[in-house]
Amino acid sequence: MRTKIVGHGFFVPENIVTNFDLEKIMDTSNEWIVERSGIHERRFIVPDGDVSTSDLAVKASQKALEMAGLKADDIDLIIAATLSPDFFFPGIGVLIQSKLACKAIPAFDLRQQCCGFIYGLQMADLFIKSGVYKTILLVGAEVQSPGLDKTTRGRDISVLFGDGAGAFILQNSDDGSDILGSKLYSDGRYYDQLWLEYPLTKKTGRISCEDIEAGRHHPKMNGRNVFRHAITKIPEVVFEILKEHQLTVQDIAMVVPHQANQRITEAVAQRLGLPMEKVYSNIAKYGNTTAATVPIAFHEAWEAGLFKRGDLVVTTSFGSGFTWGANLIRY
Ligand SMILES: CC(C)(COP(=O)(O)OP(=O)(O)OC[C@H]1O[C@@H](n2cnc3c(N)ncnc32)[C@H](O)[C@@H]1OP(=O)(O)O)[C@@H](O)C(=O)NCCC(=O)NCCS
Repeated sequence: MRTKIVGHGFFVPENIVTNFDLEKIMDTSNEWIVERSGIHERRFIVPDGDVSTSDLAVKASQKALEMAGLKADDIDLIIAATLSPDFFFPGIGVLIQSKLACKAIPAFDLRQQCCGFIYGLQMADLFIKSGVYKTILLVGAEVQSPGLDKTTRGRDISVLFGDGAGAFILQNSDDGSDILGSKLYSDGRYYDQLWLEYPLTKKTGRISCEDIEAGRHHPKMNGRNVFRHAITKIPEVVFEILKEHQLTVQDIAMVVPHQANQRITEAVAQRLGLPMEKVYSNIAKYGNTTAATVPIAFHEAWEAGLFKRGDLVVTTSFGSGFTWGANLIRY
């Protein structure tokens, strides 16, 4: 059994928010954001409107289905990676199932933050190879924007994130395409280095007015620690998966990394010994869309002709948890 990515696609909200727009609401500058992160603009949903994470996921899924030449009814499992589900519960998997009008199938959420899609790809691959499911929809989708602290207090993290969704359709195939392997890791000692503490499950009412005033319902990050770990762990896991398959970086057509920060991507390319042309980056346009960065970047790199059927592609990520990992794909 082999696992083929038969379709992929993405969707981002139309609403573009530039660094200059952020300058108007917090003490930051276009220059600082571009220099430290490489981000020029990102997409935000219109807040308090009728579009949420599952809606972005559905649009991305429809594009992936279209490329695959399949219908929603062909899907027999949905895996949805997100840290920003429409509701605390249920997850977006079931909402996607209903909004796509799929038949009654299993659908679940994966809470692995920036690594959600990387984790989901291994799960989808193993489900296909075990023969349990034949057609899997794997989506990464996020609506981060309404939850960010868009004041000067939250500027170190809020300028980095954006909204978006990307999707893969996976099926068994015997034409040479395959997910050759995946390596996944976590180290929960660092759970509070990039996290959203509130609403807090054990707390009566989950959150108080004081918690909200103190901004505990906004994500928090120790940026330097995340940076340091990301530029170490990503190259490590990429080298590991290549070695396991007796390959070197020279065999790879494209590395599609999580889009967290241009400086992280450049450091990863340098440590891998690859030119930037072989390490895809679109962070300038979308910022960090968390679980959606990898499928969005994958689709864009393919659309730009940077890899084709038969080529080897590595997808890799690092994020909150800490979690990190890589997938080796014969596209
Ligand atoms: C967040 C990040 C860009 C900050 O860059 P940095 O060089 O570490 O900057 P620092 O946090 O040391 O802050 C430097 C200064 O800029 C200020 N600053 C922070 N955010 C700012 C902003 N948006 N605009 C202007 N100044 C800002 C800080 O207050 C600090 O000021 P000070 O020196 O007067 O105290 C960087 O740490 C990073 O990219 N980390 C990884 C983040 C990431 O990828 N997270 C997601 C992973 S999934």
